[in-house]
Amino acid sequence: MKITVLDMDTASIDGDISLDGLAMLGELRVFGQTGGKDTVALIGDSDAVVCNKTRITREVMEGCPSLRYVGLMGTGFDQVDIAAADELGVTVCNVPSYSSDAVAQHTFGLILNHFGRIAEYTADCASGGWTRKQYFSVFGREMHELAGKTVGLIGCGGIGRKVAKIADAFGMKVLAYNRDPERIKDIPYITGVPLERLLRESDVVSLHCPLNDSTRELINSRTLSMMKPTALLVNTSRGGVINEADLAAALRDGVIAAAAVDVLTEEPMSDGTPLRKAKNIVFTPHIAWAPVETRIRVFEIVAENLKAYAEGRPQNAVHFHKTV
Ligand code: NAI
Repeated sequence: MKITVLDMDTASIDGDISLDGLAMLGELRVFGQTGGKDTVALIGDSDAVVCNKTRITREVMEGCPSLRYVGLMGTGFDQVDIAAADELGVTVCNVPSYSSDAVAQHTFGLILNHFGRIAEYTADCASGGWTRKQYFSVFGREMHELAGKTVGLIGCGGIGRKVAKIADAFGMKVLAYNRDPERIKDIPYITGVPLERLLRESDVVSLHCPLNDSTRELINSRTLSMMKPTALLVNTSRGGVINEADLAAALRDGVIAAAAVDVLTEEPMSDGTPLRKAKNIVFTPHIAWAPVETRIRVFEIVAENLKAYAEGRPQNAVHFHKTV
């Protein structure tokens, strides 16, 4: 089997991820930065392509008649024309739920940074702010305990439930608004509530829903105005769940206190993004999924998926799945 790997630079730092599992399955060609107009030429006569964000359109599949398999390095599959894949007999497999622990951990990293002012104190120390003081402890920036605070989770599936468990361990009250309330009703430390109540009562609102028609710009000037002026908004889901201009205005006007986001509508960040120069916002560049262990796990599953396909028993095939 001829296998082409595209987008490798989006998943590995200086070759820190082994492709041995894939190499055992066939003749491997690996490309780092891809996703442009050369996709057809790069895939060529390969039987399988493994990729991340490269768009696998009908034109690509029709231009590569040998192609029978698309293996994705992640969960989302909106970059692949699934209807065309079905029609052309191309199997598409993804890697579901590989990063729930990592994203929950990152969410709490952002929350802890906010309540403990960690990055700000680090910057203070780096600029000599601890060396010039009289006392051992320099706590001029106000910090807060998480215990007793309320976190509100919008979307409470795999990641949201892990965040809820961590929040419970910190002594936080957990509210959740999930499209399917059945998924959370038996978890004792999660209280399912309507969206408006969640927004009004939460000290931290954290987004863990997918981007779909029902969540696009769910966070906008109207919903932001329901939040506490002291609240933190955390987004590790998808940028499009937030109206970014409305959030920038809300941060400017003190409608909410702060935001911490790992994802933007436009990635990589553009000069024009309304949030770039917003007040009281912390960014990470879409890295919640990217700890080493998580990326190693992805490639183990990518190789298992391709092996299963080669043995005639495809696993994690996304065909006929509807986007949630
Ligand atoms: P999941 O599918 O297990 O859970 C999502 C939950 O959101 C489901 O329970 C669903 O019922 C609910 N939901 C859907 N529409 C809703 C709505 N309109 N209102 C309220 N709830 C709604 O997905 P999982 O694994 O928890 O991931 C959540 C999202 O996290 C993903 O869709 C993805 O966008 C994002 N993500 C971000 C990563 C990063 O690196 N920042 C990495 C992995 C995922």
